[in-house]
Amino acid sequence: MNVNEVVTFVDKIIFEKTGKHLDDIQTAVVQGTWERRTYDDIAQEFNVTKNHVGDIGAELWQLLSQALGEDIKKTNFRSTLERIYIKSSPHSLNVYHIHGNNNSFYHPQTLNHSNQKTQETNINTKSNNHDLTLAPQIINFHNRETELQNLTHWILNQNTNLISILGLSGIGKTTLVRKFIDLNIQQFEVIIWRSLKFPKSLNLLINDLLNICKEQPQETLDDKLKQLFDILTNKKCLIILDDLQNIFIPHQFAGKYQP
Ligand SMILES: Nc1ncnc2c1ncn2[C@@H]1O[C@H](COP(=O)(O)OP(=O)(O)O)[C@@H](O)[C@H]1O
Ligand SMILES: [Mg+2]
Repeated sequence: MNVNEVVTFVDKIIFEKTGKHLDDIQTAVVQGTWERRTYDDIAQEFNVTKNHVGDIGAELWQLLSQALGEDIKKTNFRSTLERIYIKSSPHSLNVYHIHGNNNSFYHPQTLNHSNQKTQETNINTKSNNHDLTLAPQIINFHNRETELQNLTHWILNQNTNLISILGLSGIGKTTLVRKFIDLNIQQFEVIIWRSLKFPKSLNLLINDLLNICKEQPQETLDDKLKQLFDILTNKKCLIILDDLQNIFIPHQFAGKYQP
């Protein structure tokens, strides 16, 4: 992550939050803080007082803390951003990928979440529009702090519509998502977990999703899709499609799906 990426990243967050882009002095505070310069130093360059720079910094850290759900200050700005920054997809600002492989998907710190939330989850899975009957139960869970923070930020702060979690079999994709649900179950009106290991037709899959949402499926596939999109628009929904690779046609190029 270089200083230009930092400024772009912060600008995007501040714009989403306030509707305004960073001005020159705010940009200088972000750049200067990233480069570990003092407020005094930044103030001299811009011919303003140190207090003025301090006020601008305080406002920025507060906005960033709210947007990212982390306590951000001058002293931890760089380390926090380095930890949570993930490149967005070039195709869409609202679609992100976590792409793991054996080398890069591992984080050494241990995550100590209490079991209390997992227990709450088990109670809540019985809630009407939460269908986690096909989701695995987690017994042990370690690390993945960064990945969980990224998912939380994208889904809960940025309302990202589609996230793909990719990586070799056994790397922990399913477990990561299940843990995310355990920690955030209260945030969603609808949660549906389905595996596509033995995929059924789109028609049947959508019937299934609509039934869980207590909707009588319409006749045509088009109408059913409209019905489903209405639900997705009006309620906070999380739909997990695990083992997605099974809807590709084996030995064909990417993008060739089974009917
Ligand atoms: N963060 C983790 N902490 C502890 N065990 C894990 C973790 N992630 C995965 N595992 C274990 O590794 C195995 C494979 O994980 P899984 O989520 O099924 O991988 P994938 O979905 O990528 O194929 C499972 O037995 C799971 O319990
Ligand atoms: Mg899996």
